[in-house]
Amino acid sequence: MSKKYHVTTTVNGDECEFLCEPQQTLLDILRDELMLSGTKEGCATGDCGACTVMVDGVMVCACLVLAVEAEGSAIETIEGMAKGAELHPLQRNFLALNGLQCGICTPGILIAAKALLERNPDPTETEIRYWLAGNLCRCTGYDKIVRSVQAAAKEMRGESK
Ligand code: FES
Ligand code: FES
Repeated sequence: MSKKYHVTTTVNGDECEFLCEPQQTLLDILRDELMLSGTKEGCATGDCGACTVMVDGVMVCACLVLAVEAEGSAIETIEGMAKGAELHPLQRNFLALNGLQCGICTPGILIAAKALLERNPDPTETEIRYWLAGNLCRCTGYDKIVRSVQAAAKEMRGESK
């Protein structure tokens, strides 16, 4: 049995400690140890973006981060996006405008879109498409995803729909 490492982090603002083996990824720990299964595994090779989370404000593929590397960092996952029963505008608009079908890509896309709107509240369609280029979706054809992000951005800017 390999040695386990003790890691201390915050996850969605809550202090969080776990034990991990050296080869375990942050994705493994989020899903299998912390039971935060909102973060999805699509490829496990950094290609699909389904596992996108924020680590210290930086968007990463959790399948490419070793869990031990998370020591001392602040992790944000899809479970932290809604505030209680109140959905984030991105979540609401994805639901209203059918920005998802099977939903496997959706948590990663929502995390990525939130990161985009925090740095650019009024992105063009091209900017949205470029930003989300690392998040693959097999179902939607992307158009409804882009429309959902645009609608959420508009709402967050305080402009009427
Ligand atoms: S599961 Fe991490 S990028 Fe696909
Ligand atoms: S909604 Fe199915 S992969 Fe995107």
